[in-house]
Amino acid sequence: LVLVLDFGGQYNQLIARRVREAKVYSEMISYKTPVEKIKAMAPKGIIFSGGPASVNQEGAPFIDPAIYELGVPILGICYGMQLMTVQLGGRVERPQAHEYGKTEITIEYNEGVWHGLKGARQCWMSHGDSVLELPAGFIRAAFTANTPVAGIYCPEKNFYGVQFHPEVKHTPEGQAMLENFLYRVCSCQGNWTMESFIESQVQEIRKRVGDKKVLCALSGGVDSSVAAVLVHRAIGDQLTCIYVDHGFMRKNESEQVKDTFIGKFHLNLDFVDASERFMAKVKGISEPEEKRKRIGNEFIRLFEDEARKLGQIDFLVQGTLYPDIVESGTETAETIKTHHNVGGLPEDMQFELIEPLRMLFKDEVREVGLELGLPEEIVWRQPFPGPGLAIRIIGEITPEKLDHLREADAIVREEIIKAGLHMEVWQYFAVLPSIRSVGVMGDGRTYGYPIVLRAVTSDDAMTADWAKLPYELLEVISNRIVNEVHGVNRVVYDITSKPPGTIEWE
Ligand code: XMP
Repeated sequence: LVLVLDFGGQYNQLIARRVREAKVYSEMISYKTPVEKIKAMAPKGIIFSGGPASVNQEGAPFIDPAIYELGVPILGICYGMQLMTVQLGGRVERPQAHEYGKTEITIEYNEGVWHGLKGARQCWMSHGDSVLELPAGFIRAAFTANTPVAGIYCPEKNFYGVQFHPEVKHTPEGQAMLENFLYRVCSCQGNWTMESFIESQVQEIRKRVGDKKVLCALSGGVDSSVAAVLVHRAIGDQLTCIYVDHGFMRKNESEQVKDTFIGKFHLNLDFVDASERFMAKVKGISEPEEKRKRIGNEFIRLFEDEARKLGQIDFLVQGTLYPDIVESGTETAETIKTHHNVGGLPEDMQFELIEPLRMLFKDEVREVGLELGLPEEIVWRQPFPGPGLAIRIIGEITPEKLDHLREADAIVREEIIKAGLHMEVWQYFAVLPSIRSVGVMGDGRTYGYPIVLRAVTSDDAMTADWAKLPYELLEVISNRIVNEVHGVNRVVYDITSKPPGTIEWE
């Protein structure tokens, strides 16, 4: 284990990420974590992250100096290096010249973190303050044109500091530096794999759950699917999953959930087919928020009913991921009353949470999924909104429009996968607006619905760009939709980014 002490820098998650890429398990914890707790975690190394504060400003985040006495190697990055400098007796000031972006750096040593890197290198800088005086026992290990001290080194204690950011890709040798720190300085083995992760989670879940009962709301999405199968591996039939089919799922989706989770994994799955109930709820409704609200409420009601039937449940599985936890900046609550991720839960039910993926990034979750034997279609499933196709029919939902949309969407998915673009394009789907236009087919006039094709690239769904799909692919998709989906006579492509558009149309 290598700990990252978080001082609030914008690249902090990346540090833990890079350490794990080197197959060393890493967790990010608050800089306020008491030294006893850190000691108990027995880290082989500690990395201080960057952060927005200046060490000289009042209230700047400082750590318990006892951390420097643990005998554990430390690597301070940016703010982390400045903090180490000040706390160990050096001096940090804000000079005239700041450094931001790509910078050339000269590394003077070939030892420890710098192994094999002596000479001129490129790095990524982002700092206002600079180290001017080193603490006793430290030597300078690197400099740049504007920063006289860009790297420091205390051979006796195995402490290192770098002013630049080794965790970002713009520092080409950054990963090599981190690996030097992990393997050479901290003597880490680099044997943390998804297989070992699964094994340790299984043991932990067994120990925690004992012979109690566990519930999981399965959506068929990547996170809840992986979480469910992992917990099932640990405790088998003590886990019950509830899957609510609201009737707005994509073509074959619910069947796939049944085949996979009941057929292949033999999960105790409570499959609730509620399509008629949901359809009745949205009948005549065209306002998007009203639609969402009605679907959300009905979902909670159904989930409540099903959960109550199961009697006393002690734990609830959630597919929370590491970025959710780090971003919220808090320790996750152990007990919840209502929870939004599953659309809310009964007020009077109390669960303890099991979040087996809470330490993983999305791509690690995918790896775990594959390791557990989940099919690629689930592991690589694109995000799909809770209300499903209901919010991709603009205006009132009818069974006829739902059929058109489902067929068109299946064609879009099939062709994008066939073209091998499904891992590059973030989301790709069809939208059906409730308008009709005139066309001609054979010798006759048609009056049918258009399908809007939406495909976007994105990293996190916060911003997105429309995908530059090849014309030939657009042509195939368009031809297939108008030929195969009866009632649709036109296909258009949405070329709006987010912002100003959103990814979904409602
Ligand atoms: P928008 O349309 O706001 O969507 O750009 C951003 C991302 O969120 C997904 N989305 C949802 N996911 N429940 C979900 O679980 C929802 O109600 C919901 N609405 C939108 C959307 O597909 C995109 O990935």
